[in-house]
Amino acid sequence: MKTRGHQGTGSGGGNRTRKPRRPARDPARNAAYDVVRAVDERDAYANLLLPRLLRERGIKGRDAALATELAYGTLRGLGTYDAIIEMCSDRAPDPDVRDALRIGAHQLLRMRVPPHAAVGTTVDLVRLRIGAGAAKFVNAVLRKIGSRTLDEWLPIVAPDPADDPVGHLAIAYGHPRWIVSAFRDALGAPGEMPDLLEADNARPLVTLVARPGRSSVEELEAAGALPGRYSPYAAYLREGDPGGIDAVAETRAAVQDEASQLVALALTRVPVEGDGEELWLDMCAGPGGKAGLLDAIATHGDLAGLAEEARVRAGTSAGKPAASSGGASVGEPDVARGSVPGAVTGGEPSGARDAAAGGAPGGTPGAVSGAVTGEEPSGARDVAAGGAPGAARGRSGGVAFPGGARLLAADVQQHRARLVRETTKDASVITADGTEPAWRPGVFDRVMLDAPCTGLGALRRRPEARWRRDPAGIAELGKLQRRLLATALDAVRPGGVVAYVTCSPHLAETRVVVGDLLAQRDDVEQLDARDYLPEVEGLGDGPHVQFWPHRHGTDAMFLALLRKKPAQPA
Ligand SMILES: C[S@@+](CC[C@H](N)C(=O)[O-])C[C@H]1O[C@@H](n2cnc3c(N)ncnc32)[C@H](O)[C@@H]1O
Repeated sequence: MKTRGHQGTGSGGGNRTRKPRRPARDPARNAAYDVVRAVDERDAYANLLLPRLLRERGIKGRDAALATELAYGTLRGLGTYDAIIEMCSDRAPDPDVRDALRIGAHQLLRMRVPPHAAVGTTVDLVRLRIGAGAAKFVNAVLRKIGSRTLDEWLPIVAPDPADDPVGHLAIAYGHPRWIVSAFRDALGAPGEMPDLLEADNARPLVTLVARPGRSSVEELEAAGALPGRYSPYAAYLREGDPGGIDAVAETRAAVQDEASQLVALALTRVPVEGDGEELWLDMCAGPGGKAGLLDAIATHGDLAGLAEEARVRAGTSAGKPAASSGGASVGEPDVARGSVPGAVTGGEPSGARDAAAGGAPGGTPGAVSGAVTGEEPSGARDVAAGGAPGAARGRSGGVAFPGGARLLAADVQQHRARLVRETTKDASVITADGTEPAWRPGVFDRVMLDAPCTGLGALRRRPEARWRRDPAGIAELGKLQRRLLATALDAVRPGGVVAYVTCSPHLAETRVVVGDLLAQRDDVEQLDARDYLPEVEGLGDGPHVQFWPHRHGTDAMFLALLRKKPAQPA
């Protein structure tokens, strides 16, 4: 990972002698150093490597927590630490020495490790892992770094905020300049930038989704989680391994950011106009987070929303969507589970449920109809007509979907389609390129397009990701996003709705893509997506929705809702 031009000529250690690896004396710092080195040297992913190292080396408890903070904190703050290291070094350190200096700087500037311990332990690490000469160099540099606090260093190494606010924020909060600039453009509230960047540096809470009809927030609470803030299906896990929770192990629940849940929920809340069947498409479904929730709602309904609507009818509404009810008792239609007859025209089916999805034009040999072509699911017509089942509305906008639809989920990559198959229960899953549709046009009531993007909205999750992203890729991604959005709009029937979602707030991937498509088509109108998430504040000026880590505690997810205009009567 090349963050600054330190690729060394001058060594930090002169005539260093590399010693054979000896047993680690400081397991946490050795593990953190190995992770930072692997990220730097061979583009490893810290969040995959660190848990493996901790497991293999039997590092647990406080040592594991220390190793995690050292590795992740160092990687997030690289830009800041490199600027200070450069100021304190009389020569460019070699990469292995520089990585140790970065870990030492993180302890001195952002952790509560006493300075003598931060310097001493890093020098010991370097002596053990690199050599005595390098240890001397590191000792001298770290002492200089430790002579000032971070607040004292910033005016020295960062541009004056009055002259260059973006450059200042980039150094002060350890983000590449182009990302700070992109966030600033999208946020439109420069005063919030420090809070946003600070939130982007914090480790996110583990958020779980209880898939309706399959699990419940109450079940997750019993396993130690706390109910979510916005999504009626969300629960926060403060500690512990989510994989150890039965509901997660059985894919009835899953790890899923709350904004990811809400954009999927918003799509299901839009009343679809016209006389349609309930057939949904997730065009870029892998690895299956949103497909897992959409599949559950398609089958069982938005149980929390239906319960809320029932309370409104009875005059006892709490005025806020309720936590999910555990069973499938509320409003769940009794429909046969089948495939998606009539929808799939091509693709590359693989596996049992792919086979059920079809491959033959005209549908599915042997498929069970009912969910989408058979008897009318209770409430489906109410929704199609734009009203809630039973005509009660639980919120200011949208309706709770009653269930009885079928989801077709596609991904261009076979292994990602396989992951979708593993996490969904009733969906039909195919490997297919969304730009060359394997389905008939105009047949879907709701289409989720969670487009491939830079992922700038989820930098909190991968400590090193911000240094690896490259603005040069955005133009190519933009072309793909436009092609996918065009086929998503072709796939939806008149009166149906498309959710265009990115896990990036970058305007070139969000508003500009949507604006370009709207300018090209007169058969599409944009809905105010905020109307379908009335429980969430601070979503911006609309009509799209933009989540932010510092406002919502979620990833910076973008949502636009586009309706295909209903066909005009002849
Ligand atoms: C942002 S991810 C989707 C995340 C997913 N919706 C979820 O919630 O787990 C984008 C996905 O698009 C897929 N993809 C990229 N190009 C595609 C294409 N042309 N057609 C279909 N899928 C594509 C990628 O393989 C990737 O799995």
